[in-house]
Amino acid sequence: MPSVWKENKELKKWIKKNYKYLIDGNFNYDLSNVMSDPLLVSISNYIGVNKNYVYIGSGISQFISVIINLNCWDTIYLPDPEFGLYSKTAEANNKKRVKIFCLYCDDFINKIKKYDTKPNDLLCISSPRWFSGEMFTKEQILEIVSIFKGTIMIDEAYVDYSNDEIGMLELCLKNENVILARSFSKKFYASGLRTGYIVTKKNLTNLRGVLIPPYSVTTYSSNFFIKLLSDIDMLELFYNTRQYVIKNRNIVYDMLKDQFNIIKSSSNFLTIIFSSNNELEEAYSALKGLSGIQIFKENIFYIKIWISDEKFSQIVINRLKELK
Ligand SMILES: Cc1ncc(COP(=O)(O)O)c(C=O)c1O
Repeated sequence: MPSVWKENKELKKWIKKNYKYLIDGNFNYDLSNVMSDPLLVSISNYIGVNKNYVYIGSGISQFISVIINLNCWDTIYLPDPEFGLYSKTAEANNKKRVKIFCLYCDDFINKIKKYDTKPNDLLCISSPRWFSGEMFTKEQILEIVSIFKGTIMIDEAYVDYSNDEIGMLELCLKNENVILARSFSKKFYASGLRTGYIVTKKNLTNLRGVLIPPYSVTTYSSNFFIKLLSDIDMLELFYNTRQYVIKNRNIVYDMLKDQFNIIKSSSNFLTIIFSSNNELEEAYSALKGLSGIQIFKENIFYIKIWISDEKFSQIVINRLKELK
């Protein structure tokens, strides 16, 4: 996978300009006062949320491990397909779990209604979905909140490709049973810098103690995002990059939707579902040699196409259009 940060001239220049500030072998906050952490302050200001409700971690992945592992849950509910770390973590820790198979957000809601959920249950969903990029509408999320009796973790790793960066932030500040997870991995093409956060009013026992000293985000990453979040030009550069990806995603979708079972996505990828392994393999081999193509053969056959530039989009369209 090429690194956007190494190849883009503007970004390289930005790192060069800031390197003295970025490199620092020390903690840059007072360990006896974790709420003074400058990254916590910076992210809280950026999203406009009181820092008491914000927790910083080493990407959403760390929150998945920490939250699923808490011993307050009875049963963990997960849509299927979902980002694999959820079920793997639940499985590794012998958590009782229920997987709800659903291709579309609608199916999920119809199915979750049938379960007798309890206050100590945890539901984890991604929106836009990891599987297809389909985003639950606000009405659908409200319906889930009214149906599900326990805590709901909403993973918004891809929300910045949905044209609604606010996502479910307001709901999570109104409802103590909601945990919102966000990441800088996709937003700033910086998955290697391992930084994410959650917002919740829920009182998760000692969560801050588990997640902070010794801090799980390196000082380099912390300084990096403090600088980035205060740099309007850089934020605009990334906003424009994401808009460009969204535009290309929509073109690929429009060009292929009549020929394939392709799901309308609010993310930086598109998912095509196939009805047989043969069809899947045929499409996959047509896309051979391109980076950003992932094949899945679980209980369904699908390909995920990670959208980048116009040239890539055109090649994908041309090669898939040639298939019968
Ligand atoms: C839905 C979803 N959640 C979480 C993650 C992990 O994010 P992070 O890099 O912040 O750990 C991913 C990564 O692919 C993802 O697709």
